Amino acid sequence: MPSKNTTKDFLDNQRSHWQDWNIPYSDGEALYKLIVENNFTSVLEIGTSSGHSTIWLSYAMQQTGGKVTTIEIDQTRYNKAIKNFELAGVSNLIDARLGDALHIIPTLTETFDFIFSDATLTIQPKESYLLFFKAADPKLRVNGLYTMHNVTDGFGDDGRFFKYVDNLGNYQTSIIRASSAGISVSKKIKSR
Ligand SMILES: C[S@@+](CC[C@H](N)C(=O)[O-])C[C@H]1O[C@@H](n2cnc3c(N)ncnc32)[C@H](O)[C@@H]1O
Repeated sequence: MPSKNTTKDFLDNQRSHWQDWNIPYSDGEALYKLIVENNFTSVLEIGTSSGHSTIWLSYAMQQTGGKVTTIEIDQTRYNKAIKNFELAGVSNLIDARLGDALHIIPTLTETFDFIFSDATLTIQPKESYLLFFKAADPKLRVNGLYTMHNVTDGFGDDGRFFKYVDNLGNYQTSIIRASSAGISVSKKIKSR
């Protein structure tokens, strides 16, 4: 079992070396805090890239005793992530899937208490975040959090997700504005 310092040291040392559309260090910290404060143990990530956010999620799992499932469609970034997970000492905490999250999510048998969506579909970029939410919503437990990156910088959702989730009536949404990209946090307050 790797010590948590191995992982934090890796995150600190790599801080300014990420080059694959990875979240900034401070957003990793924000996700980490949300998970640890709520003692979440089951995490799903959409959009691994080379693994920066996944390593923050896994660092949180070291504190709570949980596991992360993460999905990436691009083989090259997936391979980089696998290598980074080894270097960060978190491979044993991660179920890394290669493929289209829209196809993989419905096949997952477990449910999650924290979901982080950080991917954009190349064919339907404007609808991506809503399509990923619709696929993942059935997998989120009541009292769990559905989070999304890039909600205020124009790279992510264009407003359709917020309209849709507000109309559902079983989520309460806020935005972490300290993040320069914007992170939305939607709590599932009851089942539909
Ligand atoms: C912004 S990057 C993710 C960065 C990562 N979360 C991090 O901070 O290290 C988005 C990633 O989503 C992936 N992606 C796009 N569409 C996808 C899909 N349908 N299924 C899975 N991954 C997808 C892209 O290949 C890209 O690597």
